[in-house]
Amino acid sequence: MMLSQTIQTDAIRDFAVAVSDGLRKVGQRELPSVYLYDELGTALFEAITLLPEYGLTRAEERLLRRRAGDMLDSLPPPVAVVELGSGSGRKTRWILEALAVREPIAYFPIDISASALVKCHQELGSLGAISIVGLEKSYLEGLQEAAARRRPDQTLLVLFLGSTIGNFDPPAAEKFLSDLRRHLKPGDALLLGADLEKSVGDMLLAYDDPAGVTAAFNLNLLARINRELGGNFVLRNFEHHVRYQTTDRRIEMHLRSKRTHTVSIRAAEFACTLKEGETIWTEACHKFRVEEIPGLARRTGFRCEAQWIDPEWTFAENLLIVS
Ligand code: AVI
Repeated sequence: MMLSQTIQTDAIRDFAVAVSDGLRKVGQRELPSVYLYDELGTALFEAITLLPEYGLTRAEERLLRRRAGDMLDSLPPPVAVVELGSGSGRKTRWILEALAVREPIAYFPIDISASALVKCHQELGSLGAISIVGLEKSYLEGLQEAAARRRPDQTLLVLFLGSTIGNFDPPAAEKFLSDLRRHLKPGDALLLGADLEKSVGDMLLAYDDPAGVTAAFNLNLLARINRELGGNFVLRNFEHHVRYQTTDRRIEMHLRSKRTHTVSIRAAEFACTLKEGETIWTEACHKFRVEEIPGLARRTGFRCEAQWIDPEWTFAENLLIVS
């Protein structure tokens, strides 16, 4: 069997196991949010970033466009930029352009999607004196490779933008930052995007837009299970449901069953009956307080050097330096 077929089969098997484990959970059924991002899910997420109700991406773009020079000021040249989950690299342009003013650019975008890395090349390849080494890997594997390839004189600047850190539950976020820190040296830096708490109404609208784009993004997870695992979900039997958990400060996305019915998934050899009103939890989006970031930085081996907050949409870009 060819290697690519083996990888494909492993990926499908992992997906099937994750789905059946999540749907078996007692109390609250779940599906892991990473599986929201197949090709269609990624395109729907790109559309979400353009919604008037979802201010997060525009806020971060504004901060990077206006303040990239200040963000780089405390990093001694030469700098190599590593981006975790680069996507198309649209927001990264501002950092790389600011860097280009003082030195040639070394950039390692990391993404599990080969097509995202191609788009990133197309978007940023024309920036002049730039070396782009795309790494089609998970975040930590990619970071390990970029750290191994850095020149000894280079400072690493790791970009973890878009508030993806909020999609980890808080203990997992701390563990992830500590693991990331282990690949870095004192003086290296992490630029961490974090969406901040705002009015409950605004947060709910950002994840339940009237045009239904976020609903389509959420429902696509069931459609993906049908396509890739032989599931028989009838999408009309579900509705997108969003709630805000005040104590944990997180938006939760769910899929709510509109009637009692049975579903089955061939590749997972799994079937279950969902009751009317029962939900499957698909994503958590933690909302931060700006003052919680320095503590998070300290506990994971960094110091918080600076924070920039967008005046229109409460979002913070945080510069953490390895201590
Ligand atoms: C990718 N991530 C930061 C988005 C968020 O806001 O948590 C995912 C998302 N889910 C629904 N809308 C956006």
